[in-house]
Amino acid sequence: MITRPKDNKDLEKRAAIGVIRAARFVRRYAKSNKVIDVSTIRLVHKEIWRDVWPEIAGEYRIENLEISGSSLQLPHFKDVPKLMEKMDIEFAKKISKTGDECRGVIADFGEINDELINCIDKVVSLSTWVHHKITFIHPFREGNGRTARLIANLILERYGLVGISVKVERENKDAYIQALSQIDKMADYEPLKNLIYKGLAERYEGVAMKYYPFAKG
Ligand SMILES: Nc1ncnc2c1ncn2[C@@H]1O[C@H](COP(=O)(O)OP(=O)(O)O)[C@@H](O)[C@H]1O
Ligand SMILES: [Mg+2]
Repeated sequence: MITRPKDNKDLEKRAAIGVIRAARFVRRYAKSNKVIDVSTIRLVHKEIWRDVWPEIAGEYRIENLEISGSSLQLPHFKDVPKLMEKMDIEFAKKISKTGDECRGVIADFGEINDELINCIDKVVSLSTWVHHKITFIHPFREGNGRTARLIANLILERYGLVGISVKVERENKDAYIQALSQIDKMADYEPLKNLIYKGLAERYEGVAMKYYPFAKG
């Protein structure tokens, strides 16, 4: 039986466990052949919240919100379904363009060549785009950032890269928020792309260190 959170702190603690479950869902989904679209975004959101705040889990918001500390004007809640439909069409186009070309290329690469480097860049760009789009539309009552970061990882993992952490709660937080607002204001995707590349570099070094613990330095 699901019990209700006692207070906000309890709710956030439970949501943090929901994020672990959603991350597991993302890892499995990435390995499958299932289509990635707007309904996948709702499924990931649902995995975070379904036992914590079931009323909002996977559902679009029914109120207007502000992002605390940000001047970004979020869309009116009544516009969310329409904006998500529009996003779905754009998302499908981008996935078929990037995805079909690049899935096998990254997963099983041998030679480091231009095709590989281009594909990695296309996948990182797609991950950056979807990450920002979700936070910009802010379709859900709560957990938009967490869902956006998980979906961004789903893209990386589906096309043969690894999921990353942009470390939003620590020293990178300002850079992360600044990178998002750089896209809001001037469609400049570079700062967020760079944060994703940095996250990838850290993860891959971690992987290398696990298998070759004496290799560094
Ligand atoms: N200027 C901005 N432009 C776009 N997205 C932003 C901006 N500032 C913050 N965000 C996003 O909004 C999220 C906060 O929304 P919220 O629904 O509370 O998500 P969460 O609870 O998962 O942090 C941040 O984590 C970040 O991803
Ligand atoms: Mg929040």
